Amino acid sequence: MTAPAELLAVATEIAREAGDLARRRRSEGVAIAATKSALADIVTEADQEVEHLIRERLAAARPGDGFFGEESAPSASETGVTWVIDPIDGTVNYAAGIGNYAVSIAAVTGPVDPASWTAQAGVVYAPALGECFHATRGGGAWRGETRLRVSESSPAGALLGTGFGYDPATHAGDLATVAAVMPIARDLRRMGAAALDLSYVAAGRLDGYVERGLQPWDVAAGALLVTEAGGRLSQWEREERRRLFIAGGVSVHDEIVRLLAPKA
Ligand code: IPD
Ligand code: CA
Repeated sequence: MTAPAELLAVATEIAREAGDLARRRRSEGVAIAATKSALADIVTEADQEVEHLIRERLAAARPGDGFFGEESAPSASETGVTWVIDPIDGTVNYAAGIGNYAVSIAAVTGPVDPASWTAQAGVVYAPALGECFHATRGGGAWRGETRLRVSESSPAGALLGTGFGYDPATHAGDLATVAAVMPIARDLRRMGAAALDLSYVAAGRLDGYVERGLQPWDVAAGALLVTEAGGRLSQWEREERRRLFIAGGVSVHDEIVRLLAPKA
């Protein structure tokens, strides 16, 4: 098995090149290439180009590893390592000219399913913000040279993050989830990039995070950041394709679980 630090070195170099490409393309103007699951679920030409670049670089650096990305067909692993990629997380922000978007690259082993894989290394690079978050299994979570630690709970209440699915039919359920957790909230953020939301939980900027319906590539790197920063995660399969994902410092995470647990 390759050491997590070696996987991280590969991921970091590629994430920086990919993020810088995304940022350059953004400054040249953005074209919507297609819509996907719903009208709001857009993909830009840059999403596709950036994923293509990441895939090429990984194939050259790590032949035989598997690939599982948001914008192209998966390929199976021959080495036990699979790369889980979101080329631009926060595509709606990206298209709107809002800088809260990131490249997310993770190396995982085991089944390609966030409930059962083991994340070995992860990078979340936000080129427009100039921030790069990274973690390795057992090696801690970092922003550049700064070690990250999730927040402790505060008597003023928790600063929570969330997100919403693109399909309008899911909005009522998402809003009900938010309503259920608001009793412990000081305030709520919907910043538009799940990989960064999780990085912010790891950094102690957000105290907790909850979202339904996240995809594996949204969470692969960010979830490792949270656990390596001393946080806690839960994933519940409650409805078809609407997996509920909870992250936070230990006490805020546990409070959210208590508020959302099905009542007997
Ligand atoms: C989306 C973002 C958003 C979250 C959505 C994701 P995308 O990813 O992470 O914050 O609320 O659930 O699909 O489409 O921008 O890569
Ligand atoms: Ca995403």
